[in-house]
Amino acid sequence: MLASLKSCAIYGLDSFLVDVEVYISSGLPAFEIVGLPDTAVRESRERVRAAIKNQNFDFPIKRITLNLAPADIKKEGPHFDLPIALGILAATEQVPASALQGYSIVGELSLDGRVRPVNGILPMAIEVKQKGLKGIVVPFENAEEAAVIKGIEVIGVKSLQEAVGFFKGEFKPDDIIPEVMDTVTTEFEGDFSEVKGQEVLKRALEIAAAGHHNLIMVGPPGSGKTMIARRIPTILPSMTFEESLELTKIYSIAGLLSGRSSLIKKRPFRAPHHSITPVGLVGGGRIPKPGEVSLAHHGVLFLDELPEFSKEILELLREPLEEGKITISRMNATVTYPASFMLVGAMNPCPCGYFQDPFHECSCPPHKVHNYLSKISGPLLDRIDMQVGVSPVAFSDLEKANSMDSATIKKRVELARAVQLERYKGLNIFYNSQLTPALINKYCKLGRAEKLLMKEAFQRLKLSARAYNRILKVARTIADLDQSENIKERHLAEALQFRNLDRYFQNIRT
Ligand SMILES: Nc1ncnc2c1ncn2[C@@H]1O[C@H](COP(=O)(O)OP(=O)(O)O)[C@@H](O)[C@H]1O
Ligand SMILES: [Mg+2]
Repeated sequence: MLASLKSCAIYGLDSFLVDVEVYISSGLPAFEIVGLPDTAVRESRERVRAAIKNQNFDFPIKRITLNLAPADIKKEGPHFDLPIALGILAATEQVPASALQGYSIVGELSLDGRVRPVNGILPMAIEVKQKGLKGIVVPFENAEEAAVIKGIEVIGVKSLQEAVGFFKGEFKPDDIIPEVMDTVTTEFEGDFSEVKGQEVLKRALEIAAAGHHNLIMVGPPGSGKTMIARRIPTILPSMTFEESLELTKIYSIAGLLSGRSSLIKKRPFRAPHHSITPVGLVGGGRIPKPGEVSLAHHGVLFLDELPEFSKEILELLREPLEEGKITISRMNATVTYPASFMLVGAMNPCPCGYFQDPFHECSCPPHKVHNYLSKISGPLLDRIDMQVGVSPVAFSDLEKANSMDSATIKKRVELARAVQLERYKGLNIFYNSQLTPALINKYCKLGRAEKLLMKEAFQRLKLSARAYNRILKVARTIADLDQSENIKERHLAEALQFRNLDRYFQNIRT
């Protein structure tokens, strides 16, 4: 008695089809799983046995051999319970084996036979569609998530009984209308207009949002760094459908979607605490999960009080900052997750916060200032497009009426982003910060006057080659905000402003 059906496994951000084969033979009662299962899959046996019995089906007292193919890829997680149970029921003719064909089946079982939600449904549904299957049987709570993918049947089931009922033609699931998830972070609301003064910083954030540039702000405590950072989501451009889908896959695999919604429409804003672990930041674990750098994909990763993070943690940011993705090595495989985030860092200029402050005395001995800043390594600083020195808020600014609101800024950001999307069509990049040196040569051409200006600045500010390219990218964004085809002197001059901390850091370090 042999039965075979399909399920899905997750690898990195993608899913692939798995054949679940059940063979029941006479001999001493046993239940064996082969085909590189992990512990959670092996534990399936107990859940499947209990679930089958508790839902009033017969569990065969025979020798059961279960194979998960292809055998060379590790099968992880508890979502094979339901296909395994159905395979056993098909091999013992309690459900028609032919009816299972054309469907992929996933779901965890509880001991009493209820079907529990699982992670990674969205990439599974994508795979089912790509491979041309009829549909996917998923836990009821995950049905909306799967239904984002059009053109396949989505069957949400609450129990093993319901799944069997569906294949016998006795149970018809409801139609599912996926709901759109508006946001992943609702905690930080507010508006740019509430931030008084700090015009340079606000302008810098507008440019950063328009070109998806990394930015670091350095300034005394109480100047509004945290306040303004939390308002960045209000000026970020809306996501394209491709961006939404890619981000939602990450949240699906991280298990942060189930039961809440289906497609994430707003860019994420992640603000991990400085006590975060390496796995928490970049991802990993026994069943690998994306970390904060991937949860911030296409959005913002905000690191407040940057020097409080350990050197080890900060160095981990180098790879994703450079590549826009992160590779995690594991015992028998490596997985890669997208991690193209906009890094926003905030820090005081020294431990007490008042180094070189016009109004306060700094109480830090020089070596403390040096140690504090040396946490931010040269290579990390090199990968940051924009640096902004923040001054204390002036009293006269606090008296002023509210300034520009987020909606107005967002409109300009959207226009600048549209220019970039159009220009980079077919190149598989979406914004200026992704420009490679070759593309910089092509899209950031300078006229004579502009070249001269850059030459002067390069010598005066002792810029590195990396910094030079970053300035061009930022200037490109400023020109895009200005709806200007060419980068002009005024655009370059403004971009150069956001590089003035290089020397400050260099001086302190040496
Ligand atoms: N520019 C500003 N406009 C309005 N309020 C401000 C401004 N800067 C600071 N504040 C007030 O001071 C509080 C502390 O600011 P915060 O953002 O925590 O400063 P920082 O992070 O630079 O230390 C804010 O919550 C806000 O109430
Ligand atoms: Mg702060």
